[in-house]
Amino acid sequence: MRRLHPSPAADLSDDDLAAAYALPPGRSVRVDFVTSLDGAVTVDGRSAGLGSPGDRRVFRVLRALADAVLVGHGTAAAEGYRPVAADSAVGRLRAALGRPGTAPVVVVSRRASLAPGDRLAVPSTVLVTCASADPGRRAALADAGVEVLVCGDDDVDLPLALDRLADRRLAQLVCEGGPALLTAALAAGVVDELDLTVSPALVGGESRLVTDALPGVVRPRLLQVLEEDGVLFTRYAVDR
Ligand SMILES: NC(=O)c1ccc[n+]([C@@H]2O[C@H](COP(=O)([O-])OP(=O)(O)OC[C@H]3O[C@@H](n4cnc5c(N)ncnc54)[C@H](OP(=O)(O)O)[C@@H]3O)[C@@H](O)[C@H]2O)c1
Repeated sequence: MRRLHPSPAADLSDDDLAAAYALPPGRSVRVDFVTSLDGAVTVDGRSAGLGSPGDRRVFRVLRALADAVLVGHGTAAAEGYRPVAADSAVGRLRAALGRPGTAPVVVVSRRASLAPGDRLAVPSTVLVTCASADPGRRAALADAGVEVLVCGDDDVDLPLALDRLADRRLAQLVCEGGPALLTAALAAGVVDELDLTVSPALVGGESRLVTDALPGVVRPRLLQVLEEDGVLFTRYAVDR
């Protein structure tokens, strides 16, 4: 993988990648997505059809640098999410960077859809939901050890959720989507960074990065472009 902008450089190591995506201390929400050239985020319902070895490397580095992984329930279900294990590639990279080997997965679900038997229904998981979610379901998840954060009445209040996560020392989050969560986060003005992998493919269809009109056009600022095998790895700042 090489850097095209700023200051071109070749053969980036994992340490170089970690430096390229390093964050200053303090709270942040960075969003990590892979899209096709025409903005599609899935092929046959999954992101894997757009992926590449380089995308998986960046995905691992962004997870390794984060305090927690933030994800919508739709993505967690579609992509078969599981807890971040210390003996995984991400866990080993985290340890090499001097960080705890595991990181919580924070699932956002208005309806508290996580099933008690789900792979994510374990004590390292945090569920962000709202008061209107079924109380029995919330209680069952809490019984399974999931930390259930009720943020908002009929809808999840994302700014409140981020405050409550920061109170738990989960200050730097990598948000892995999906489009519904990204759209809500952009509308709520809580996104600081967009790390978009652009895969050289045209897919068509309706699975888009942003699902609805936003209150205003968001104009991210380009910070960095990496490249490998024709795949672009962009890093944009989003001014709140
Ligand atoms: N290309 C990529 O990088 C990428 C990344 C992520 C996902 N994807 C793809 O995107 C698809 C899923 O899309 P999606 O838009 O359905 O994903 P999503 O945003 O992960 O899931 C939507 C669900 O998550 C919960 N949710 C999301 N935002 C919420 C909010 N602001 N407040 C409360 N609950 C919220 C709701 O769950 P409840 O219904 O339980 O309330 C909602 O139904 C999958 O096919 C996945 O493979 C692609």
